[in-house]
Amino acid sequence: EKGGYDHFMLKEIHEQPDAISDTFRGRLLSNEAMVKLAGVEDNMKKFLAADRIIIVACGTSWHAGLVAEYIFEDLARIPVEVEYASEFRYRNPVITEKDIVIAISQSGETADTLAAIKLAKSKGAFVFGVCNVVGSSIARETDAGAYTHAGPEIGVASTKAFTTQITVLTLIALRLARAKGTISSSEFRHHLIELETIPKKVEEALKSDGYIQTVADIYKDATNFLYLGRGFNFPVALEGALKLKEISYIHAEGYPAAEMKHGPIALIDEQMPVVVIATKKGHYEKVVSNIQEIKSRKGKIIGIVTKGDTNVKELADHVIEVPETLECLSPLLTTIPLQLLSYHIAVMLNRNVDQPRNLAKSVTVE
Ligand code: M6R
Repeated sequence: EKGGYDHFMLKEIHEQPDAISDTFRGRLLSNEAMVKLAGVEDNMKKFLAADRIIIVACGTSWHAGLVAEYIFEDLARIPVEVEYASEFRYRNPVITEKDIVIAISQSGETADTLAAIKLAKSKGAFVFGVCNVVGSSIARETDAGAYTHAGPEIGVASTKAFTTQITVLTLIALRLARAKGTISSSEFRHHLIELETIPKKVEEALKSDGYIQTVADIYKDATNFLYLGRGFNFPVALEGALKLKEISYIHAEGYPAAEMKHGPIALIDEQMPVVVIATKKGHYEKVVSNIQEIKSRKGKIIGIVTKGDTNVKELADHVIEVPETLECLSPLLTTIPLQLLSYHIAVMLNRNVDQPRNLAKSVTVE
């Protein structure tokens, strides 16, 4: 049932190229320069009239929501707020009929997310679901939606659900950008073609597995980790840290790289591994200077870099390469080595990778 892998988590990490293509199959039509998502098409008027989008989710799905915030605002120029479902529902939030709420949930059974949906509906908002489990409570409760086609995710640590959620949300953002005219037709086509190459590039990123095991072996006994990223890759840093915490029980924090100097930099010493997402596009130079700051305080740097990078290589203790892509698609690639790093550290520490202590696959209690 684990398809020859030692754990479901590793199987699911390796399923990502197929899971991502399954998620855009029939929806991403690059030859016709079209994105087709019935749930969006049927409600296009509502999407175009919306003043803002509020995303509600928990855990890894919340991280996918944060990535989506960057993508929606950049491509479709729609203001987005991302909320922890548990905070949103108890806060007396301001919601109107002009709001669109997107609820993201792998299981479709998360109690707080479900309650947030009910609250938003009671205030007249249109609620759109991004779920993996067909017919789940959240899928049924939402007004419309688009499924991720990741297939069953058994490992408690979410992997392929995350990358397929980002895939669906990117498709929605591209469709809305086209409808709103915030993207040119040539840029739109370019994004579709690039998105189509992602499964192959994920496959390539998975090939660093051997090297990642070497890195895991060096740092497995660390008691703390920091994860840093900027822009589209800031949420990936949060997700990398969550993955390490939940399956290895090592304390880890994710931060936007520029926040370092506002506090966390005090933690840096020669004992502290810092995983920095430093891919070529975006704020690359800024990230390089963040790396220099860590280096001068003797922190150990594991850089996630674009294939062929030389700058970071000179400064970092280790670099793990991912193929080049558009900045807004890079989270789909930079996430892969972080999943593998936590996986291997957890295995080396003899943890119960698929069923970590204190955790359940879906949190149906409030
Ligand atoms: O099923 P959901 O996507 O609603 O679940 C949300 C979180 O409970 C979930 O992502 C959790 O954080 C995972 N264990 C993370 O790996």
